[in-house]
Amino acid sequence: MESQHVAEVFTQLYGSEPEGVWAAPGRVNLIGEHTDYNDGFVMPFALPHVTVAAVSRREDGVLRLHSQDVPGGPVELRVEDLAPGSDRTWTAYPAGVVWALREAGHALAGADVHLASTVPSGAGLSSSAALEVVVALALNDLFELGLPGWQLARLCQRAENVYVGAPTGIMDQTASACCESGHALFLDTRDLSQRQIPFDLADRGMRLLVVDTQVKHAHSDGEYGKRRAGCERGAALLGVDALRDVPYAELDAALERLGDDEEARRLVRHVVTEDERVERVVSLLESGDPRAIGPVLTEGHASLRDDFRISCPELDLIVETALAAGALGARMTGGGFGGSAIVLAEEADVPALTKAIEAAFAAADLTPPRVFEAVPSPGARRLR
Ligand code: GLA
Repeated sequence: MESQHVAEVFTQLYGSEPEGVWAAPGRVNLIGEHTDYNDGFVMPFALPHVTVAAVSRREDGVLRLHSQDVPGGPVELRVEDLAPGSDRTWTAYPAGVVWALREAGHALAGADVHLASTVPSGAGLSSSAALEVVVALALNDLFELGLPGWQLARLCQRAENVYVGAPTGIMDQTASACCESGHALFLDTRDLSQRQIPFDLADRGMRLLVVDTQVKHAHSDGEYGKRRAGCERGAALLGVDALRDVPYAELDAALERLGDDEEARRLVRHVVTEDERVERVVSLLESGDPRAIGPVLTEGHASLRDDFRISCPELDLIVETALAAGALGARMTGGGFGGSAIVLAEEADVPALTKAIEAAFAAADLTPPRVFEAVPSPGARRLR
């Protein structure tokens, strides 16, 4: 996205040039789904798609927010009036960040903000996190708050959990704030310790495709929260702080203890095996064997479909079709119930695979999916 253009629109809207322009990316998650609110492991990487913000400070307690993607002029709010649950529109995300920063004791008098995004919304690619993180980073720089990326991510998560009211984990915001080009981020969501894992598929003759089903989902609508509550219940039944504390080697014993509580058994089995899959993918990548991660991704899909039960027919169709057409591995990515799938493939197989997926959607009379290649891209940054 052209930062020059975003700055020009800001100048037209607000009558003076912005003090700066920032960008924060969307993400895909390679492996580690619904593990973040269980204190577990995740492994996202940043997309080239970004939300860009042109921002200037104000000293008069006013916050003006404008988005290129929403019709109408800037929305004007008073920072003192910002209150959790008071806003059900898109402005809750950036306003929630201002609220969270002020709650944490940072003196922010106000700001003018203009936003533009290339991150598809509702596609499970973290457009909300990109929006939160870009605003947090801009304010961090302009008001010289000196907060590191992981701390901005925590504040953005608080904005989303408390201000917007969506009970999400910490993965998406950390990915947007901390990812690096050419790498996937191995993140321990318990203490936010992280390791950048080189993930350059093009070098090895492979590609990772994102297939957006164009089926919309919403985290604030019950199912995500139900899974989260179910996992917390499972941890309580097993007497641990979080499911992360159930070692993979002790999974069978833990399942035994849950007896015929089928619901708890399924959720626990997914989370414990998924953490193990993340560790397996890390060691395969670190030992230079990226092709071998394919089956691990596919195993992850089966677990999300059968145990966690958050897939949908469109996502299953992508995975089945991709595997039948020779993909190395495939799985849904993100929160589930729609959104996107990822497909790992040999470069030479990409055209045939894409065709096969498109044909399968057409045959099932579904809206054509959007297919693009995902290249691990940089995290949030200042553009000018
Ligand atoms: C959404 C949430 C994340 C994470 C994923 C599932 O993207 O925002 O915190 O829980 O779902 O892995």
